Amino acid sequence: MKIIGGPSSQMLTSKVARLLNLYPSIVEYSQFPDKEQYLCINDNTLNEEVIIIQNTSTDKDYMSLLQLIDACDNAKKIFVIIPYMGYSRQDKRFKIGEPISARVIAKSINCDQVYTVNIHDKQILDYFNSKSKNLDASKLISDYIKSLNIKDPFLIAPDNGALNIVETISKYLNCEYDVFYKIRLNSNNVNIKSKNLNLNDRSVFLVDDMISTGETIIKSMKILLSNNVKNVYALCVHPVFSNNSILKLYNSGLCDIITTDSLEKIQSKISISPLISEIFIK
Ligand code: R5P
Repeated sequence: MKIIGGPSSQMLTSKVARLLNLYPSIVEYSQFPDKEQYLCINDNTLNEEVIIIQNTSTDKDYMSLLQLIDACDNAKKIFVIIPYMGYSRQDKRFKIGEPISARVIAKSINCDQVYTVNIHDKQILDYFNSKSKNLDASKLISDYIKSLNIKDPFLIAPDNGALNIVETISKYLNCEYDVFYKIRLNSNNVNIKSKNLNLNDRSVFLVDDMISTGETIIKSMKILLSNNVKNVYALCVHPVFSNNSILKLYNSGLCDIITTDSLEKIQSKISISPLISEIFIK
């Protein structure tokens, strides 16, 4: 079996490889003078089972994934792990004339089996022509919260979309949770309805599938601060962190931001490598 880490998932691939007692294949990346990207896998994938780990966060990342899959066309089987599937929030046609971009990505990934991680909406899995499965990082996140040894943690889902992951984590932790009501005004702005909660001196975890502009967390934070909480941690699976969101998030008074390494950021304290490696441990 060979394991190949795309440019966006090198550390994660190394961690998965260690858990599987493998050494990742080395891939050379460069650019042609016209800026088209070039890559070459310095390993023999002929008749091998190959695991490719790469997200589609940027167009460049997406192209690298397609190139890696194509470069392995002599393999026996190709397993593609997409830790963070970019374009997954464009999973519907909101206006006539728009593409369903999540479908564009899904249809172009041809392999034996695709795995996504906490995909924005599970219905996207139906867009893949290849077999597809979604992995859930909830258990790893709850293990991390447990390791902080915080008395009586309280979980908040900042919107209905996050309710599922919050409910699952709260079951693992046997703790209380609540959900906020969010209205998205546009890609950069949301409104969250204020709510009175009895959270005096409690530590709160705001949990979402992803943080992009940070607006959802920042607006939720305002409501929590007016509820006299002790401290608030933001927790998400996918740390997209667009533009200056990190500064705005820390300015909001959050105690810490904790994420998985589906996207590799300094805040990626929870590794999803066990979730991926266990697929291949027979
Ligand atoms: C929305 O449906 C998602 O679950 C997240 O709440 C959202 O993508 C977060 O975006 P932002 O950080 O830009 O508010």
